[in-house]
Amino acid sequence: MMAETTATTPGKIILFGEHSVVYGQPALAVPIQHARAEAQITNGDPNTGLIIHAEDLNLNLTLKETAEHGLCQMARLVLDALKRDEPDIVIRVRSSIPIAGGMGSGAAVSAALGKALSEHLGEPLSPDRLSALVYEVEKIYHGTPSGIDNTVICFEQPVYFIKGQAVETFGVKKPFDLVIGDTGIPSLTKETVGAVREAWQANPQRYEAVFNEMGEIVRRARSAIEAGTLDEIGGLMNQNQERLRRIKVSSPELEMLIEAALDAGAAGAKLSGGGGGGNMIAFVEPEQVDEIGEALRKAGAVRVIHTVVG
Ligand code: PMV
Repeated sequence: MMAETTATTPGKIILFGEHSVVYGQPALAVPIQHARAEAQITNGDPNTGLIIHAEDLNLNLTLKETAEHGLCQMARLVLDALKRDEPDIVIRVRSSIPIAGGMGSGAAVSAALGKALSEHLGEPLSPDRLSALVYEVEKIYHGTPSGIDNTVICFEQPVYFIKGQAVETFGVKKPFDLVIGDTGIPSLTKETVGAVREAWQANPQRYEAVFNEMGEIVRRARSAIEAGTLDEIGGLMNQNQERLRRIKVSSPELEMLIEAALDAGAAGAKLSGGGGGGNMIAFVEPEQVDEIGEALRKAGAVRVIHTVVG
């Protein structure tokens, strides 16, 4: 076994189509390179088994004693997939992806752990296999995840995602700038997804009509991104956000940031991820990045990230 192995995975943001993706509509998501999860593996002492330290979370886990924890389950899934016995190793995981902020922090940490472990054992998993294992862990946290997080994070490519279908990546003809604003309010995707499910069960026709509209917006956004007709993207974000409001996954804090970005001149803005808190994204021209970032901070964003898509 190699003496030391390190693997990293990106965070992700959903550009269009969160929530409706759970109901079979397409969504577009891209990896975020500035926020990453990392797993570093060193060999442990004989007979100590597999140990995981998650410093950011102040967690010390062992496969023997805390097998039910998601990170241990990820390690177990990898060992089973590779038909290996438990090795004596220490895995340190850390992440600069905000937790519970809609940027896929949980999936990224699981993916980094799985990637590092399979590499350390000399049998690196393909993105497809890694993604399938991370999806198993996602189900524990989310209940009914669409699978978009694990897919984008493991493939590290822009993805046009439809639940249950083969992964389709898409091209970005002209790169564009996004500013991401974090409300600082943690929000569990499981809860917002659960609330939407209850509302959908109570009123399926109304909700499905909204999901269909969201799906149409996503298809138009994909065409615009592939064709490089960037002047359409902001408007499509606003249209998507209007539907996200209708299914009640926005929040006053998200609305404050969205309004601040639009007032400062962004062509479009919407929440990104589960909603209820977490992050929003604004479509901006390169020369607007600083001004809109500043407007978001003034409106209460606890963190502002600039990223270029493509
Ligand atoms: O909050 P995040 O980044 O995990 O994104 C959730 C996206 C949803 O569409 C709301 C749920 C899902 O499983 O796709």
